[in-house]
This record gives sequence, structure tokens and C-alpha cells, in this order.
Amino acid sequence: MNYEEKIQNSETKVFKVVFPNITNHHNTMFGGTVMEMMDEVAFMTATRFAKKSFVTVSCDRIDFKKPIPADTLIELIGRVKYVGNSSLKVNVQVFVEQMYDEVRERAVSGDFTLVAIDAYKKPVRIFPKD
Ligand SMILES: CC(C)(COP(=O)(O)OP(=O)(O)OC[C@H]1O[C@@H](n2cnc3c(N)ncnc32)[C@H](O)[C@@H]1OP(=O)(O)O)[C@@H](O)C(=O)NCCC(=O)NCCS
Repeated sequence: MNYEEKIQNSETKVFKVVFPNITNHHNTMFGGTVMEMMDEVAFMTATRFAKKSFVTVSCDRIDFKKPIPADTLIELIGRVKYVGNSSLKVNVQVFVEQMYDEVRERAVSGDFTLVAIDAYKKPVRIFPKD
């Protein structure tokens, strides 16, 4: 499988229901919970891409463009956008969908950097040198 195919095949899509237990006093989704879900999707994407053990080392700016109201569905999509030696960057986008209308829009996006580690928790190359 070539590099582009690996990126395509590891694209990771997760749907969630925005139940009241994950909303705040504005009746919209709590930002910290969105970030937790994004980090998890980034982790799944990295792991499915490289089949290595990853930890999150940083996240770049996360843009909350639209509120995510209660009683909606969200889809999180993770895609590898950059591969370094031991690190890679995953872009995660969050779309909000109305349950009873054909309305879907992007609400949140951000990039997460993860590092592949060995059994001693030290960085390891994602792919061996050519
Ligand atoms: C991840 C960790 C092992 C990296 O160790 P380190 O000594 O900083 O590693 P290095 O300096 O050799 O850098 C390793 C890679 O990470 C990248 N990196 C390190 N810190 C980074 C940061 N803050 N942002 C982006 N990339 C970073 C380096 O650029 C390098 O990339 P490359 O190999 O692709 O060139 C260490 O920082 C760590 O254990 N952090 C805690 C991780 C954690 O607990 N996460 C939360 C739970 S998952």
C-alpha cells in the first residue's frame, strides 16, 4: 500500500449523539468534551495509519466556529496531514448535523501532533529509513 492509500485508509470517522450529559448551561456542547473526542479520534487515526503506539504531544489552534447544540449529531473526521520521523500531525474536523433536517455544517477543527513511542516511552521512527 502506498503512502496516499495509507492516509486514505486511515481516515477515521466517528459519529456521536449530543445528549444533555455533554452540554453546558448554554445548551451547547462543552468545549473540553469536544477536544477530548477530537484527541481520541486523532489517536485512532494515527494508530490506524502507522500501527504504532502513540501519545499526544501537542495540539495547534482549535477553532470553534459554530456552537454545537444539544439534540444534534456530530461527526468527527481525522486525517493524517503530515508525517515526520517519530511524529505526525492529524487534522480533526467536527461537523454538526440536525437530526430531523438535511442540515450539516462544520463546527470545529484543529490539528493534533502525536509521537510514536517504544516500550521505554522513547520516540521511535514511524517508518524505517529507506
Ligand atoms: C512524546 C515524548 C515521548 C517526546 O519526547 P521528546 O524528548 O520531546 O522527543 P523529541 O524531542 O526527540 O521529539 C520527538 C518528535 O516529537 C516532536 N515534538 C516534540 N515536542 C513537540 C511539540 N510540543 N509539538 C510538536 N511536535 C513535538 C519533535 O519535533 C520530534 O518530531 P520528529 O521525530 O517527527 O522529527 C514526550 O514529550 C512525552 O512523553 N510527552 C508526554 C506525552 C503524553 O503523556 N501525552 C498525553 C497522554 S497521550
